[in-house]
Amino acid sequence: MSLLSGVNEFFGLDIGTTGIRVVQLSNTPSNKQLLRYGSAPIERKASESDSKADQQKLAQAIKQLLSTTGIHAKDVAVGLPSSRVFTSIIDIERLAPAELGKTIEYQADSIIPTPPAESKIDWALLGDSPVDANKVEVLITSVSNDFAEKRLDILEGIGLNVIAFEPDNLALARSLIRPGTTAPHLLVDVGETATDIVITMKGIPRLTRSIPTGSEAFIRAASQNLNIDEVQAKDFVYKFGLSQEKLEGQIYQGIINTVDLLVTDISKSIKFFQSRYQDAKMERIVLSGAASTLPEFPLYIANKFGIEVEIGNAWAGVAYPQQKQNELMAVSNTFSVAVGLAERNE
Ligand SMILES: Nc1ncnc2c1ncn2[C@@H]1O[C@H](COP(=O)(O)OP(=O)(O)OP(=O)(O)O)[C@@H](O)[C@H]1O
Ligand SMILES: [Mg+2]
Repeated sequence: MSLLSGVNEFFGLDIGTTGIRVVQLSNTPSNKQLLRYGSAPIERKASESDSKADQQKLAQAIKQLLSTTGIHAKDVAVGLPSSRVFTSIIDIERLAPAELGKTIEYQADSIIPTPPAESKIDWALLGDSPVDANKVEVLITSVSNDFAEKRLDILEGIGLNVIAFEPDNLALARSLIRPGTTAPHLLVDVGETATDIVITMKGIPRLTRSIPTGSEAFIRAASQNLNIDEVQAKDFVYKFGLSQEKLEGQIYQGIINTVDLLVTDISKSIKFFQSRYQDAKMERIVLSGAASTLPEFPLYIANKFGIEVEIGNAWAGVAYPQQKQNELMAVSNTFSVAVGLAERNE
């Protein structure tokens, strides 16, 4: 082990439904420079299936990607799909940190949905509860041991050392919300199978939701409602999105009910947030994933909520050579989780 160089060298790894992404930054807290990054498509089965053969495929794909991107670091911070992680913000009696930990442990049964003995639980103190002066606000996350251990096996099997598991939605918030941002922001990241919603205030996540509707659901809706195959539907959805002019608005008509399922959940999240933080005003909605690339989706959201909408830039906190600008922007919508993981201060 070296005591000086190479210490704390790590990279971020996002294992998504459609692809894997890795990012390594120089580990100087004040100025994070992009060292290496890359992505590779994976078969959906590889990320979801429990079979040994599929896990082996995933392991090999990660190994291959590290080799092509030239990442030699062994330490890795890994994202966990928000849909597999329980995340909640709860109010708890104001206690000394050690006592707080014990209380959470005692109450775990009633806080998390899975049996505590079969789960990894983590928590972070956010600050004063906005609704009860005697309480503090605590962010709780938990994941089943089973899921975490399977991921661990895959990664250790290719010689990696997992230094952190972090829910995708918390990683997203780190890359998309710049330090120093205080006003409430709402993030919407539409993935393949799920959408993550995060509301931050003073830069800290105050609400997270994982909604089981993603771009796959839009494409299926288009395919069924317009009676076309999924390949054609995908092509149309990515090309025309929510445009009411293109193809006489047929794609819009085909997917709008599914899109509105998300809109309803976003709306509920805003209402819930505002019931807790009465004076807080949502300043901006930040989109990433398919939400930021589907034509006219951002406009639709802006009109629905009357809130300014911004396309998230995963690389906003990262320094890189100017000539990489176009290349990086082209993949920004799918890199927010990997960048957020790489931006952790280990
Ligand atoms: N040109 C495009 N226009 C719109 N959407 C696209 C385009 N290309 C890819 N997508 C979709 O955008 C989504 C990208 O999201 P993301 O990269 O977060 O997915 P993922 O991480 O693989 O999936 P998940 O987060 O659900 O596990 C995918 O559903 C992908 O199919
Ligand atoms: Mg994802």
